[in-house]
Amino acid sequence: MRIAEPLPLPCGHVVKNRIAKAAMSEGLATLEGAPTDDLVRLYRRFAEGGAGMVITGNVVVDARYLERPGNVIVEDDTHLEALRRMAAAANEHGALSVVQVNHPGRQTNRFVHGHPVAPSEGAAVKVLQSFAPPRALTGPEVLDVIARFVRTALVLERAGFGGVQIHAAHGYLLSQFLSPLTNRRTDEWGGPLAGRAKVLLEIVRQVRARVAKGFVVGVKVNSADFQRGGFDDGEAMELLQMLSREGVDFVEISGGNYESPALLFGGDDGASERTVAREAYFLEFAERARKVTDVPLMVTGGFRTLAGMNAAVESGAASLVGLARPMALDPALPARLLRGDCTSIDVPRPFSGKKPWHSLAESAFYGAQLARLGAGQLPDLHASYIFSMVVQVVGDVVRALARRAYGIGRDLPEHRRLVEGAT
Ligand SMILES: Cc1cc2nc3c(=O)[nH]c(=O)nc-3n(C[C@H](O)[C@H](O)[C@H](O)COP(=O)(O)O)c2cc1C
Repeated sequence: MRIAEPLPLPCGHVVKNRIAKAAMSEGLATLEGAPTDDLVRLYRRFAEGGAGMVITGNVVVDARYLERPGNVIVEDDTHLEALRRMAAAANEHGALSVVQVNHPGRQTNRFVHGHPVAPSEGAAVKVLQSFAPPRALTGPEVLDVIARFVRTALVLERAGFGGVQIHAAHGYLLSQFLSPLTNRRTDEWGGPLAGRAKVLLEIVRQVRARVAKGFVVGVKVNSADFQRGGFDDGEAMELLQMLSREGVDFVEISGGNYESPALLFGGDDGASERTVAREAYFLEFAERARKVTDVPLMVTGGFRTLAGMNAAVESGAASLVGLARPMALDPALPARLLRGDCTSIDVPRPFSGKKPWHSLAESAFYGAQLARLGAGQLPDLHASYIFSMVVQVVGDVVRALARRAYGIGRDLPEHRRLVEGAT
């Protein structure tokens, strides 16, 4: 069985099999962003479940800008002890623990921050009136973003995690830098792809230079944003070649953003009949990418059968098969697939449409499953999507307001100096 084969990564680490639990935002940290016992329990369950690689939900590099309240925040050593406990749990049974590191940029909810940042100023994210228009990062702030990603990676290495995955997909800040729609800068961080990719490449280069040899450095990228005039297929191919020259250990292929949620449903141009027949939405892209780069590719989105997973690895297109929603329903799925006890998983799809609120309700349903797993309970397949969404939205707003009331993640004088120093 191909998915049972170990995978040696360029840094020398060998992943014990080809199944990776893909990132799913948990929202289970404290208001200050410290990992909780529920997160430790959740990652012990994922590690016990047999996946070769276990990638955490996104962990943010700046306490001001969260993907959602309840994100783990790693700016410095403040949460080191709790991070150590989480790493130890995620490393059990020989799993490779990888932390996804992110900055949401313009996709920071208005309750979390009233003035989000982006490569260029522009329109607010057009989803449910939840976002404010972003201002452009100043030059010194761009350097600060790079330094933050590097610092966070070093703390995570000290905490005992096996690697990091830099999140440059799904319309978050690094993905915004890559897209000509959201990056209209005329300085060194904008312009042609080489300029738009420079922040990401600088982060990868500096992290690689400062971590130990066997520490895994991966990246998640979009095969396309699925928006007219956005980051497209051709640029994604070029970016993969740039990343492989920087010595990344693996690149995960996904697609879309909040306004065009291809990550959960497949992209409009990605959902060709051939792709649908092969389950995974981004496999066709990975097959073409395989011809231009040797970097190990992780393909995530849509895998539901053992045969589909084995065929993706067999063809050479996917070095790793990423599973997200199926893992929230059954964290022990990898072990069952590897034993041959299970050949397919039924993942409920409540909506046939692809509207942003559909993806919000679906994510909330799966988020509720993660909370149940973290609390030591079993998943509940009969939970209501709408109720899960209401609970998540209301809970996130309350937590965002509580953070404000306690002054957590507020703008500090040193942050303002980075803005004013540039004017
Ligand atoms: C509840 C939930 C949370 C997610 N959070 C993240 C995240 O933090 N980072 C990320 O890169 N992708 C995130 N995703 C996307 C998944 O990693 C994955 O790309 C997507 O769900 C498609 O894979 P699947 O068909 O196996 O679910 C999330 C998905 C879900 C359902």
